[in-house]
Amino acid sequence: MREFVLATGNKHKIEEIRAILKDLPIKIIPLSDFPEFPHTIEDGQTLEENAVKKAKEAAVFFKKWAIADDTGLEVEALNGAPGVYSARYAGEPCSYDDNNKKLLKELSGLPKEKRKACFRCVIAIASPDGKIYTAEGKIDGIINPSQSGANGFGYDPIFFVEEYNKSFAELSPSIKNQISHRARALQNMKEKLNQLINML
Ligand code: IMP
Repeated sequence: MREFVLATGNKHKIEEIRAILKDLPIKIIPLSDFPEFPHTIEDGQTLEENAVKKAKEAAVFFKKWAIADDTGLEVEALNGAPGVYSARYAGEPCSYDDNNKKLLKELSGLPKEKRKACFRCVIAIASPDGKIYTAEGKIDGIINPSQSGANGFGYDPIFFVEEYNKSFAELSPSIKNQISHRARALQNMKEKLNQLINML
């Protein structure tokens, strides 16, 4: 079985990525198995820069192919913010709840048609000798005026998917993993992953 390091310690991302890639004959080794790995500083100006940096650093450190994800929530009324700064929107350090509350405050009073947003995810795959591949996935939604649902993580309780009439946090993990930004980015990467699996 081909091994890929998954360059994240976020247990929710690990679960989702494992579920989305479950049909591929690969073993995913998350960074949470390696506390000695030096944390990558996410100082890129774009999701792609951060995803590539995370994948590269893990690939070089472990001398293995590595996969990384960088995600941002882009809110139309905020000209695309928090975007690449989604993790630290409410300052540093901050919780998911701090971020959600700050965003709800920023948008308070705005009608539904002014609450459009999307999640954008960039997946990067890097080899120890410097090969890099990237793919992107996106899903549109609306920022609900309050939090609902207990599944998922991050901004899921306030991200409303019109097609399902539910927030991401109200959807079952299996539905989220079929339609999410992360699922779509990984889907767009599957052909390349299959090629690599056959080549390695
Ligand atoms: P990261 O920099 O890719 O780890 O993610 C930035 C922030 O976006 C995280 O702190 C989460 O709050 C949020 N985020 C990433 N992916 C998701 C998701 O699938 N649902 C909700 N929030 C997410």
